[in-house]
Amino acid sequence: MPRYALLVLPATNRVYAEASIDLTRAELGVFSAAVLDGRLTDVAEERLGGVPYVTFGVAEPLGARDVAYLSQLSSEYALFELREQRELSGEGSGAPVLSPVTLTPLDQFDDDLLTIQKYVGKTNEFFTKLLLNVTVLASASAGDMLDRRLRILDPLCGRGTTLNQVLMYGWDAAGIEIDGKDVEAYSGFLRTYLKRKRLKHQAELTPIRRDRKVLGRRFHVTLAADKAAYKSGDALDLTVVNADTRRARDFFRSGSFDAIVTDAPYGVQHGSRSGGPGELSRSPLDLLSAALPGWVDLLRPGGALGMSWNTHVARREDAAAALTAAGLEVCDDTAYLGFRHRVDQAILRDVLVARKPRG
Ligand SMILES: C[S@@+](CC[C@H](N)C(=O)[O-])C[C@H]1O[C@@H](n2cnc3c(N)ncnc32)[C@H](O)[C@@H]1O
Repeated sequence: MPRYALLVLPATNRVYAEASIDLTRAELGVFSAAVLDGRLTDVAEERLGGVPYVTFGVAEPLGARDVAYLSQLSSEYALFELREQRELSGEGSGAPVLSPVTLTPLDQFDDDLLTIQKYVGKTNEFFTKLLLNVTVLASASAGDMLDRRLRILDPLCGRGTTLNQVLMYGWDAAGIEIDGKDVEAYSGFLRTYLKRKRLKHQAELTPIRRDRKVLGRRFHVTLAADKAAYKSGDALDLTVVNADTRRARDFFRSGSFDAIVTDAPYGVQHGSRSGGPGELSRSPLDLLSAALPGWVDLLRPGGALGMSWNTHVARREDAAAALTAAGLEVCDDTAYLGFRHRVDQAILRDVLVARKPRG
């Protein structure tokens, strides 16, 4: 049976790196179930030459499309087919020989789009990619992720880590953020980035008015990885609304997103603003319950919502109950239960993914 060995990126920060092998195993499980017909077996951690790899077996060698899916794994550095010396030359030992498999990531831009911004409260970019992957893989758009431009919303978007990863995949991105400073910082970063990289774009930050009232501000950008795509009208679309996420329906069309992906406030760096002006609560549950009806309305039937949060401030059962109460079906198959990991002393992060019924 062909076997493969996946090397995890060394760039994951120290704390995340401790969890990254287990998270990669869990993420592989989700890819396998969603788009590889469950063909990956024996997903395990194995040391080769003293270095940890995630290894797996598959009945037939991986095809080009299988490799294309697996090229999107969030912490992947390299993928090898594993053979034994004996198997290759008919002699020698059973020592492993690693043959590199060429990866085909969707990446449209340089990876510094994800790494330049550094600030307190930033969600780790590798984890953000994992959350995006496992959410899209739970949605009706899973089989399209390599072929179609998806549209993704982060309704608590901070300074845009999810949005940047969505752009990186060549998809359209939208975000909502209540903190004006975050929206300004993100707008400043993205404009500078696009200029410095000489990427064709148009960007504007404008007030959103309705019935002569200002409802918030909108940062809107059209951009493309190359001039030809921009000229032919094939530009990516990014919209960030500076407003309260509980009003999400005021800003986006019903049923217009393939997936919603968000890292909820941790009750440490950020509070959830769910009560009166300026009120902060430690648990994101009140905010979730208030915002979910709007978020679910924005999802296409068959769309999925994936969120991460700090289990020290809200229990998994309670967060799952909030998603169920909003009409979503929580994914509770084993593949989706392996994402809990420690971020620091105060944060034990977990992931919940849920689907909107196809109707
Ligand atoms: C964990 S942070 C997200 C960080 C983001 N993923 C990043 O890397 O920049 C959660 C965000 O939710 C925002 N937030 C909290 N309550 C909100 C509300 N009612 N409406 C919109 N945004 C809110 C906070 O200001 C914070 O930026």
